[in-house]
Amino acid sequence: VSGNGTVDAVRWKGGEDGFLELIDQTLLPQETVVLALRDPEAVRDAICRLAVRGAPAIGVAAAFGLWLGIREGPDDPAALDGLLARVEARLASARPTAANLRWALRQVAGAAGRDGPVKARKSAVFAAARKLLEDDVRACERMAAAGAALLRDGARVLTYCNTGALAAAGPGTALAVVFEAQRSGKRMSVVACETRPLLQGARLTMWELMRAGIDATLICDNTAAAAMRRGIDHVLVGADRIARNGDTANKIGTYALALLAKAHGIPFHVVAPRSTFDLGLASGDGIPIEERAASEITEIAGRRLAPAGAKVWAPAFDVTPAALISGIVTDAGIISPVDESRVAAVVRG
Ligand code: MRU
Repeated sequence: VSGNGTVDAVRWKGGEDGFLELIDQTLLPQETVVLALRDPEAVRDAICRLAVRGAPAIGVAAAFGLWLGIREGPDDPAALDGLLARVEARLASARPTAANLRWALRQVAGAAGRDGPVKARKSAVFAAARKLLEDDVRACERMAAAGAALLRDGARVLTYCNTGALAAAGPGTALAVVFEAQRSGKRMSVVACETRPLLQGARLTMWELMRAGIDATLICDNTAAAAMRRGIDHVLVGADRIARNGDTANKIGTYALALLAKAHGIPFHVVAPRSTFDLGLASGDGIPIEERAASEITEIAGRRLAPAGAKVWAPAFDVTPAALISGIVTDAGIISPVDESRVAAVVRG
């Protein structure tokens, strides 16, 4: 099974006895190394160290991680239930912010049901993981089509982090909108923020845009205000978790871009599938924000820049209030303006 984006970040090779393939995104763009993973701890480790990253992609990887964790488990119903719960909890603990991770694990663990022969219950988990991957591809395509309609020929788009085919099983979220607009004949130009500290924009978004032949310009994150003043028509970003009032967690720095877009009168759209919504949370205040190792700030590519012992605050995400978001492009339509009743109408269907 593989997605049909410009690159396959996450794919399953073979049938039930197969393995998970991931591009090690920590090495891009210098090296394209494909990892073959056959146990859930290896999948968890790949998620923790961002070898696979982006909310939809980590959900799909974890879904197959769950399958890898139970496929050789004992043929006893009670033992299967215990094993499912343990592997699900272990994978869910890899990263705290992306809703897609827990959502995907719930989908595939739930597919096992409570009754019937253990072999059939296990097979249902594998089938659910495959379906999740295929559904992600379709969700990306639907978001791309809906979002592309917002962009005119010649639009100048500013984006953040990486939201392309590396971040999903399909062509991605925000970046897939740009790919689709360009494919449909509109000329696009993209300003990609480098996205400190791990440079997903400089390394991954620029790699994807240049491979796709899209006019792309890399800027430092602190150039965004100047770029908007000079001429940006849209800001398009992804999301890791969206509360039921529309408050949106995304890569640290997204909130600043939303404030800048507001100040310049530029539309700011979030592009995310329904699996990124957490309707159990009233607002963004309840979204758990991952904190990363200090070394990700004090060092670049293994070289220390800050003084030894420097005190660091390293959140991986921030929350953009719904009031700053012009619209949320989902796989079930566009939420605009963003408020609780419109979120519920689109996400609950
Ligand atoms: O830490 P990362 O690289 O996993 O952060 C990813 C993002 O913030 C993306 O914008 C988000 O997951 C949406 S990806 C389609």
